[in-house]
This record gives sequence, structure tokens and C-alpha cells, in this order.
Amino acid sequence: MSKKIAVVPGDGIGPEVIREGMRILERINDESKLGLEFVHFGWNADEYLKTGISMPPGAMDDIRNNYAAVYLGAFGDPRVPDMKHAADILLGMRFQLDLYVNYRPVRLLNDRLCPLRDKHRQHVDFVIFRENTEGAYVGMGGNFKKGTPDEIAVQEDVSTRKGVERIIRYAFEYAKKTGRKSVCMSDKNNVMRFGGDLWLRTFEEVAKEYPGIEHFHMFVDALTMQMVRAPEMFSVIVTNNMFGDIVTDLGAALQGGLGMAASGNINPGKVSLFEPIHGSAPKYTGKDVANPIGAILTAAMMLEYLGHDAEATRIENAVIAAIDAGETTHDLGGALGTKAAGEAVLRRL
Ligand code: IPM
Ligand code: MN
Repeated sequence: MSKKIAVVPGDGIGPEVIREGMRILERINDESKLGLEFVHFGWNADEYLKTGISMPPGAMDDIRNNYAAVYLGAFGDPRVPDMKHAADILLGMRFQLDLYVNYRPVRLLNDRLCPLRDKHRQHVDFVIFRENTEGAYVGMGGNFKKGTPDEIAVQEDVSTRKGVERIIRYAFEYAKKTGRKSVCMSDKNNVMRFGGDLWLRTFEEVAKEYPGIEHFHMFVDALTMQMVRAPEMFSVIVTNNMFGDIVTDLGAALQGGLGMAASGNINPGKVSLFEPIHGSAPKYTGKDVANPIGAILTAAMMLEYLGHDAEATRIENAVIAAIDAGETTHDLGGALGTKAAGEAVLRRL
């Protein structure tokens, strides 16, 4: 496998948090002689506004053929209200690199960070697998009589047998490999009858191949309630693209906020993309206040994907130690800026 990593800081606070993640990655790369080669790409709103190009021609093939992973910050800029560049780059990579697994762990690293009363580290430790290439994100639909009082808008929600089966199977395989006890599939099949029927039938069929793993279904409205009321009931959750988008923000809040959460957009065995869950947060840009931990844990997740488990654990432990010492940004109750919070982790590696 190639050892090249594409680094795409993006917009807003993206560059600030990726800078902290990179300091850690570069240190580990040197010390553990991982031989990773980091190549920086400046694709972002500034570039797009200047050139009209979100990603240069050939770039997607270059990433596909020559890179092991992409380490990405965040996309979104108020000067690009339709998010065209973000759609081309982030959603473009999800679709064109077929990154069908969106892996979003929900793990509380310190009791102090949990917004729920009487919930501790042992209660908040599960993984959400979000289908990442279908659903409402395919952008199929259209308008009729646009701009008139009779306007109609149709937005399709697409599920394929192949797409549903591969994410459900991935969730069960993950549960088996990591010793997780159950897989919960969540959707809204009491209303979305056709797609829901496909999801439920596929879930039941795949579950039969994993007799050692409990499986249950939960409507997504009930899921949001139970994630808050009793997060300990979950071990692995698998859901569609849109529901996964929504419930993973809730999952981030359970861990201490959006600044804490990491994610992987994975095509197993192929080039995959790793990004913190948070957005570009324009109002915090350049103020040295953004929490770098989501980006740092994302770097750890990327190393794990590349087979460097020990190095990933080393980063996680340093993050936990920095949080335990209260050396964090304000969102976690600390007094540090982005750079100093990154240093607090770096020092504990
Ligand atoms: C996420 C984000 C993206 C999504 C946006 C930026 C398109 O919210 O990665 O969760 O909706 O998938
Ligand atoms: Mn989201």
C-alpha cells in the first residue's frame, strides 16, 4: 500500500486543527519510522473563489491511485452559500472513492465531559456506522413550476440492496472483530416503507450469519431518545446516510461536544478519508479557540486504519491524559488556545 497521505485542511478552523494533528502525526511518523509522506493540498473556498475550480482535473484519480489516506479538516464558507466546493470535494470523494462506511465512534473520554446526569465513561462507548454513499445524499430529484405558487420539489432517498447489505455486513464484522455484543439497525420503516423494508429484510438476513451477536431494530426517533436516556444500551449502531448524519452530532455531544468527535470515511482496503465531525466554524476562525482534539483523534483513527494500532493508542492515551489534567480548550472547561491544547497532547505522547 502507498504511504502517501493527502492533507486537505480546507476552510475555517480546518487549517488550525489540522496543524495540531499534523504536529502529532509528524512526531509519531519520525519516532516510529512509519515512512508516511504527507502531501498538502490547498483546496478550499479561497481557491475556489479565486479560480472557480474546487478540485483540479485529475486530482481524484491521483488520490485514488497514489494515496493511502486523506486527512481532511473542514469545509464550509459563508462566501460560498451553496457549498459547491464542499460538495465537489467532500461529497465528491465519498461518492467517487466509494467510501461507503462512515465510522463514527461515540466514546466518553472523561466523566466530566458528559452532558448527561449520572452517566460515566462505561455508559458512553459505542460506534455508529453511517451508510455514506446513498440515501438522500445522492442528489436525485428536481423541481417543477419553480418559483410559482404551484412549485413542486422532489428529493429522492435511494437505497440499493448492495449498498444496504455492505454497510450492515461491515457493522456485524466490526462487532465480531472487536467483541461488541450487539448491532442495532435504526431507520424509520413505519413511514419510509419501501427503503425501510429493504433495510429491515437485509438486516435480518445478514444477522443470521452472526448468531453470536445480538441484533435489534429501533426507529430513529426512539434512537435519539435512548441515546440520551440510556446510551449504555448501544454497542454498534448502523443506519442510513441522513439519519447517521443527524445522530452522530448527538453522539458528539455525548462525548463533550463537536470538538471531540472523529470520523473515518472508509472503503475497506482502499484509500480512505479521515475528518473531524465538526464543521469549519467560521465565527471561530483564526481566533485560536477551536478544540483540536477531534482532529487529533481523527489522526489516531487514520493511523489505526493504516495498521499502526500501537501508535493510535499512544495518541489516544496522550489525549486522555491532557483532558484529565484539564489542559484543554474552553469548550472542555480548560483555559488553553488551539495551539497550546495541541501542545498539551504532544507533550504527553
Ligand atoms: C458531516 C457533515 C456533512 C454531511 C456536510 C458538511 C455535507 O455534516 O460530515 O456530518 O452532511 O455529511
Ligand atoms: Mn454532519
